Amino acid sequence: MIKIAVLGYGTVGSGVVEVIKTNQELINKRVGEELDIKYVLDLREFPGTLAEHLIVHDFEQIVNDEEVKIVVEVMGGIEPAYTFVKRSLLAGKSVATSNKALVAKHGAELLAIAKEKNINFLYEASVGGGIPIIRPLTSSLTGDEIVEITGILNGTTNYMMSKMYNENADYDAVLKEAQAMGYAERDPSADVEGHDACRKIAILSSIISGKLVDFEDIYTEGITNITLKDIQYAKAMGMKIKLLASCKRSGEKLCAIVAPCLVSKSHPLYSIEDVFNAIFVKGNMLGDSMFYGSGAGKLPTASAVVGDIVEAAKNPNRSMMSTWTTEKLELEEKSETKKKFFVRVNGTAAALKDKLQEVFGAIEVVTLEGEENEFGFVTEVMSEGCYEKCAAQFPEICHMIRVE
Ligand code: HSE
Repeated sequence: MIKIAVLGYGTVGSGVVEVIKTNQELINKRVGEELDIKYVLDLREFPGTLAEHLIVHDFEQIVNDEEVKIVVEVMGGIEPAYTFVKRSLLAGKSVATSNKALVAKHGAELLAIAKEKNINFLYEASVGGGIPIIRPLTSSLTGDEIVEITGILNGTTNYMMSKMYNENADYDAVLKEAQAMGYAERDPSADVEGHDACRKIAILSSIISGKLVDFEDIYTEGITNITLKDIQYAKAMGMKIKLLASCKRSGEKLCAIVAPCLVSKSHPLYSIEDVFNAIFVKGNMLGDSMFYGSGAGKLPTASAVVGDIVEAAKNPNRSMMSTWTTEKLELEEKSETKKKFFVRVNGTAAALKDKLQEVFGAIEVVTLEGEENEFGFVTEVMSEGCYEKCAAQFPEICHMIRVE
């Protein structure tokens, strides 16, 4: 019998218990022996849906119990999760976690400890909820140089953008819905300000580069400034607005960014709706591939965690994950990255188009029916730095969205 301990009994923790209970027989067969939840660590008081003998309040009981072979960290946040995970690994227990903040910040160190101890630190659920993406990148696609990953990596904001696009729904109301469905982080500003997607793309970038991509180096813009007016413009152009997180090879460097972007119908991420996530991966040999599925929520995320538990249980003395070093990868300067920009301007195209063309070069004007006080335009491909210099000459510019 393999004993496990679950740290945390929030949305994901209760999901892990539910997945194991529901599929117990199947899981036992796959592991080759019985998987047994010995403890659930309760730091907050949670409603008494669990058998009392499972609940413990002191981590020491778990870390000092030699019977516990796998620790499941689903508490979220950095502390005490980091201390608990590190101590579990040092005590020779494999760890499965859904905690992207922890993996993005301390992944290199925790993976190195697991490797040294010949155990596993697994984090499939930290990116893309239930979508398998970590294991494909660390295993199936290791014959390739990955040249691009562009993803919708946050379920909450994709849910919000879809509802705003399809139903003209109000921003605050849809955020509340996403929270009620268990998609959003405890502090939903992590979702809407892009920090959650930023940590996820930092993890994927670290995997493909083998070096630490520091999430603090990634330019991150959320959806807080996206309004129904922006969505009207997107519709007028036959496009949608999606919060994209991407890393792309640019010579020897990687450029990484999180920002709301306009995507056209021909883009593979255009049709990704609701809470679904999708991750577009381009390999130098593979070409294009897409990973798609439920990006957030109790059971999809728990499903990925339980997959890691099974993997750890089947490989008790074999460290399987590839690691990345603590050496920081230098990212390409944001000002050097190139793309098209959609820009909203106060005033009329008749009055401003010529001057805009003098500065920006060729532009394509976009107008909204019945809107007389502003218009939009799309630039040609230019660098961010060049865009900023041009835009500084026009106080009439009120908003900019990047075009993917
Ligand atoms: N809040 C996250 C999301 C949960 O909405 O995608 C999954 O990481």
